[in-house]
Amino acid sequence: MARVLSPDAEGIKEAAEIIRAEGLVAFPTETVYGLGANALSALAVTKIFAAKARPHFDPVIVHVADPKDAEKLWLTVPKLAQDLIEKFWPGPLTLVLPKREIVPDIVTAGLPTVAVRMPSHPVALDLIREAGVPVAAPSANRFGRLSPTHHEAVLEQLGGLIDAIIAAGPTPVGIESTVVSLAESPPRLLRPGGTPIEALLEFLPDLRVEPPQGPSASPGTLPRHYQPSTALFLLEPGPPAGQEALERDKCGFLAFQRVWEGFARVEVLSPRGDLVEAAARFFSLLRKLDRAGLLAIVAEPLPEVGLGLAIMDRLRRASSGRARLDKTKVWIIR
Ligand code: TXA
Ligand code: MG
Repeated sequence: MARVLSPDAEGIKEAAEIIRAEGLVAFPTETVYGLGANALSALAVTKIFAAKARPHFDPVIVHVADPKDAEKLWLTVPKLAQDLIEKFWPGPLTLVLPKREIVPDIVTAGLPTVAVRMPSHPVALDLIREAGVPVAAPSANRFGRLSPTHHEAVLEQLGGLIDAIIAAGPTPVGIESTVVSLAESPPRLLRPGGTPIEALLEFLPDLRVEPPQGPSASPGTLPRHYQPSTALFLLEPGPPAGQEALERDKCGFLAFQRVWEGFARVEVLSPRGDLVEAAARFFSLLRKLDRAGLLAIVAEPLPEVGLGLAIMDRLRRASSGRARLDKTKVWIIR
């Protein structure tokens, strides 16, 4: 089982030693928990893929504690990248640029680019500094499952497969970083996330937000991802219709602002309708519903502005289809 370390100087020292010795340490970032390894060691990064059962076509993000360290990973840092770094780092923005030779191919899944970010969580920054190497880290979940926003969720999925975890409670942002490729012109949004698009558009008015065509520029953006074990369906308006009807009182409901009647269990993302709060609670409430022994989970769509865009991206990938409601039933459209 993973050693459970405290987020104090001693715990961080021990975690850094494991990273330097090519082991795996789960650690908190402001977005979600990451599963970290020495990014400059192909062997260490290979262990991440094994523990997560992650396919090798899906590259990982490299975390640095100082923008200067990003310069050691990227071939060049264009002015645009410098401006974005100044404005958004440390924080939930990942930038993709052509890589230097020292970045092992396994990190980038053979791509000529590498994704880098500087997290703002103090424990993540302390760990990276103490380790003295950049830290490759995908979200600390089994491939395709819910991202962990609490150390308990990491231990549940990966406890037997990693060397240690720094246990620091819930992560404040709750959804992964926004990923932007500056390797193409104009720049492209590869994944909506914790930095709202509206804030980026001020700096990148020509940012392309539509999904890329053809062979994926961001191999990790699969249509099915973030999946709970209990089937999830996205609520849509309209009269009852579908292939299958489930009893409403055996299903769960993930609501935005208000409690909906007739479900076995309802979790409300943000009673005051705050999308930042909804993002922070999203994965943990979905996990609660997932563990409640329900027939299915129905999720209410959220407004697609601010962090709502990133939440809806996760919900679409988490869902197995759509649902319509009548007074007592949930109608499933697969
Ligand atoms: O907030 C986050 O970003 C978290 C924390 C731990 O930092 N990490 C995270 O990593 O979400 P992961 O591996 O679950 O997602 C990384 C995403 C994937 O969609 C992957 O395809 C994309 O970033 N990515 C990584 N390197 C890339 C590259 N060179 N080119 C394009 N996309 C890349
Ligand atoms: Mg992930």
